[in-house]
Amino acid sequence: MSAVSWLLPLVVLLKVNKTFRNKFFSVVLMDFLTPLERRVEPFRKRAFEVLQEHLSNRKRSTPLEILEIGIGGGANLEYYPENSNLTALDKNETFSQYFEDNKKKFSHITYKKMVSSMAENMEGIEDSSMDVVVDTYVLCSVQDVKAVIKEVKRVLKPEGKFLFLEHVAFPDSHLGAKVQSFAAPLWKLFFDGCILNRKIAEEIRKDGFPNVECETKYPSDLWMFFRPQVIGIGTK
Ligand SMILES: C[S@@+](CC[C@H](N)C(=O)[O-])C[C@H]1O[C@@H](n2cnc3c(N)ncnc32)[C@H](O)[C@@H]1O
Repeated sequence: MSAVSWLLPLVVLLKVNKTFRNKFFSVVLMDFLTPLERRVEPFRKRAFEVLQEHLSNRKRSTPLEILEIGIGGGANLEYYPENSNLTALDKNETFSQYFEDNKKKFSHITYKKMVSSMAENMEGIEDSSMDVVVDTYVLCSVQDVKAVIKEVKRVLKPEGKFLFLEHVAFPDSHLGAKVQSFAAPLWKLFFDGCILNRKIAEEIRKDGFPNVECETKYPSDLWMFFRPQVIGIGTK
């Protein structure tokens, strides 16, 4: 069978059928990208170390209210602090079975609710109700970064923390920036709207968290598309 005979219908389905697009993405991410997942584990771990450093004055007896946006299958759960109350949010319900299976492994977390919604409009979540909002590899694919940042700020308590881990654009002068620009349209189609070359830390700083602290990494064992990786934390 020639590549065109299956690639063309796949592209058309991805473009026109949201149910297919959602299922395709959750299966690709959860069942086929496990080697990539292993490579990003150290960054997840580091992100939650950064969070712990920022929560050093926390009373452990008081539950930590955490909202994770775009939680997918729940790849961060193992790194959550003790005594966490989790509100999970995602727009794609086809991840829910993966999430349900995964969450059984982590008894240090109390699951409050699963919200099926866009992060751009989190109506189901009250103002100033969260100690922490977690975002890992989500702002790369949202439709409106500014709206999400505004919502994150709304739901955080005063002094609440916004923890993020993202793959971002190379600096403009770097060859990698050209590779990312070239690959971006196809990448966006196959990976659920993911934009390879967003300057996410800059957008977060400009649109709501001017005090954000970032660590940028250029891991050589990661595909160029996924470099650089930025771990950041902002305080409301
Ligand atoms: C690349 S996956 C990352 C999943 C998970 N955060 C992780 O680190 O493995 C992106 C996730 O964000 C979700 N997502 C993308 N855009 C979203 C939006 N606008 N609102 C809510 N969830 C969104 C997707 O459905 C998917 O679960």
